[in-house]
Amino acid sequence: MNDKILQLYPAPSREVSLRGLYLEHNLRARAEALDRVFVCANFVSSLDGRIAVPDPSGKGVTLAEAITNPRDWRLFQELAVQTDILITSGRYLRQYATGVKQEILKIYDDPQFEDLRNWRLSRGLSSQPDLAVISSRLDFDVPPTLLGDDRSLLIFTTKSADADQIQRLQDQGAKILFAGEERVDGQELCAHLTELGYRTAYSGAGPKVLHLLASSGVLDRLYLTFANRLLGGAPYASILEGPLLDPPIDLQLNTLYFDPYGIEGLGQLFASYDRVE
Ligand SMILES: NC(=O)c1ccc[n+]([C@@H]2O[C@H](COP(=O)([O-])OP(=O)(O)OC[C@H]3O[C@@H](n4cnc5c(N)ncnc54)[C@H](OP(=O)(O)O)[C@@H]3O)[C@@H](O)[C@H]2O)c1
Repeated sequence: MNDKILQLYPAPSREVSLRGLYLEHNLRARAEALDRVFVCANFVSSLDGRIAVPDPSGKGVTLAEAITNPRDWRLFQELAVQTDILITSGRYLRQYATGVKQEILKIYDDPQFEDLRNWRLSRGLSSQPDLAVISSRLDFDVPPTLLGDDRSLLIFTTKSADADQIQRLQDQGAKILFAGEERVDGQELCAHLTELGYRTAYSGAGPKVLHLLASSGVLDRLYLTFANRLLGGAPYASILEGPLLDPPIDLQLNTLYFDPYGIEGLGQLFASYDRVE
C-alpha cells in the first residue's frame, strides 16, 4: 500500500503518512479539555453526497460498495480505536442478525489492524470500546459476540419504549438508559455518557443519528471522506436526515488531505470539521 498522501490544510501543504494520520488527531487529548464527552462522527460520501445506494428492493438503502475502500477503512479504525464508546443504531443491530457486509462494532477485527490493538492495549484501555445503541423500536437481539468481560452494551431509548422489549434486552445483558420522551435526544444522551464517565464517543451510525447529535448541539467533530465518484440513485441517502436545522449548524475546516491512491487511483479527500461554538 502506498502510504503517502498530501496534507492540503492546514498550510503549508506537505506529504504525510496515511497510517497513523488520525491517531495523530489525538481525540483523547481533545476530550480532556472538555467537561463533557467529546463526540465525533464519520462518513464516506460520493461527490453527489451519497453515503448509501438503493437496495435490491428499491425501497431502502444499503452499503455503497463503490465508495467504501481500505484506505478510508483504515482511518475509520484509527478513530474507533481511540474512543471509549461507539454509537450505533437499532437498524444496524437488526441487520447484524442477518449478517453485515462491514463489521463496524468489533474494531481491529482484521489482522492488518494489529498495530491498533497494541495502540489501545498499551494505553491501558478496555480491549474494545463500549457500545451505545440508539433505538426506539428495540426489536433486535443483543449479539453475544458484542458483549465481553470488559465491554458493556448500552441501549439509549425513550420513555415510551415497550416494557417487554426492555426486559428482554436486559435479560440478554444490555443496560437500558432513557434519553428522551418520543425520540432519543442528543443532550440527554450526552449527559448520560458524561455521567457514566465516557470521555470520547464515536458515531459510525447514519443520517438520523447524525441529525440527533447535530440538532442538539453535541456533535463536536465531523470526519468526512469524499470519494471521487458520482453514484446517483433513489432514495437519496445523505449524511443527514431530519427536520430543517434552523439555525444551521456551522462547522469550520480542521484538516484536509488528498489521497491520490484511493478508489482505484481516482483519489479521495479526507476532511474533518469542528463545530463552531
Ligand atoms: N457511508 C457511510 O459512511 C455510512 C455511515 C453510516 C451509515 N451508512 C448507511 O446509512 C444507512 C442508514 O444507517 P443507520 O440506519 O445505521 O443510520 P441512522 O439513519 O442514523 O439510524 C437509523 C436508526 O437509528 C435509530 N434512531 C435514529 N435516531 C433516533 C432517535 N432520535 N431516537 C430513537 N431512535 C433513533 C432508529 O432505530 P430503531 O428503528 O431501532 O428505533 C433508526 O431506525 C445504511 O444503509 C448504512 O449503510 C453509511
